[in-house]
Amino acid sequence: MTSERRRARPNTQSPGLLFKTADFKQTEGPALSAPAKLKTVSADAAFSDPSRTSAVRGATLELLDVAYQYSGRRGQKAGLGPLNLKVGAGEFLTVVGPSGSGKSTLLSVLAGFLKPQAGEVRLAGHKVQGPHPALTLVQQEHALFPWLTVAGNVAFGLRSQKVPRDEQRRRVAEALEQVGLGDYGDRRVHELSGGQKQRVSLARALATRPGLLLLDEPFSALDARTRTEISEQLLGIWRRQQVTVVFVTHNLEEALELGQRVVALRGGEVVLDAQTAELSAGALREVLDEA
Ligand SMILES: Nc1ncnc2c1ncn2[C@@H]1O[C@H](COP(=O)(O)OP(=O)(O)OP(=O)(O)O)[C@@H](O)[C@H]1O
Ligand SMILES: [Mg+2]
Repeated sequence: MTSERRRARPNTQSPGLLFKTADFKQTEGPALSAPAKLKTVSADAAFSDPSRTSAVRGATLELLDVAYQYSGRRGQKAGLGPLNLKVGAGEFLTVVGPSGSGKSTLLSVLAGFLKPQAGEVRLAGHKVQGPHPALTLVQQEHALFPWLTVAGNVAFGLRSQKVPRDEQRRRVAEALEQVGLGDYGDRRVHELSGGQKQRVSLARALATRPGLLLLDEPFSALDARTRTEISEQLLGIWRRQQVTVVFVTHNLEEALELGQRVVALRGGEVVLDAQTAELSAGALREVLDEA
């Protein structure tokens, strides 16, 4: 990434968030130390009201003393935390760490798919108790539905959000175009390469116009050229749509190029949290090796 590209990024400190529904009247969440008088967002309520997606566009996402432990064999503990992490409105945060350090667990907790045993997740200051339509997670295993076409997969989230048919078609075409698969709408999933499947997963997420995009190694199966192209597209979407992005990658150079801020995990704990402009890949590698 050139320094010009870094400079061209929007000022994410500006208040990019306006709440539209009666439930979300404030423009900022309460301070971390504020008393916990919170309105909770249940999975049912969130899914039954797709308008909440735009209501929390670019909202702050926080983990407060969160711990998630898988029950391991022979009493071994594996998982995440306890940790505190705040992802700012409109921020592009990258997450790195060795295999098994808790990156995917972190995204699943942020997305509301895993309920932490301790602490809580707050979206725009509201306690999250389950998956929220504003938070779209693109998982490491690109879980596409094999019985649907590529377009059917991309339209999936839109159908559950009850987006009108015409709008669905428009958004599916646009999202497939954005990931370079404009001609693949009629294909079956089994006819795609691994990299193409990754791009379909990304298109499926983009089509829902999420407020917060959580991406788990979305480019790992792409060749260098395609990766650069899609990275550019993702940065463009992030700038235009003021979406908050949490992006997990093994690739330290990618983490520094794409992110404004990088968090490194090891053993489920944060061992580094820094602005990318102040870091080199060598320094990041050293921290990970030493941690
Ligand atoms: N379903 C599960 N049951 C038990 N342990 C699990 C489960 N999922 C993950 N773990 C363990 O939790 C830890 C963190 O896993 P996680 O998948 O978050 O790591 P990761 O950083 O995403 O790794 P990778 O880079 O390989 O994707 C690992 O030790 C892993 O073995
Ligand atoms: Mg993982």
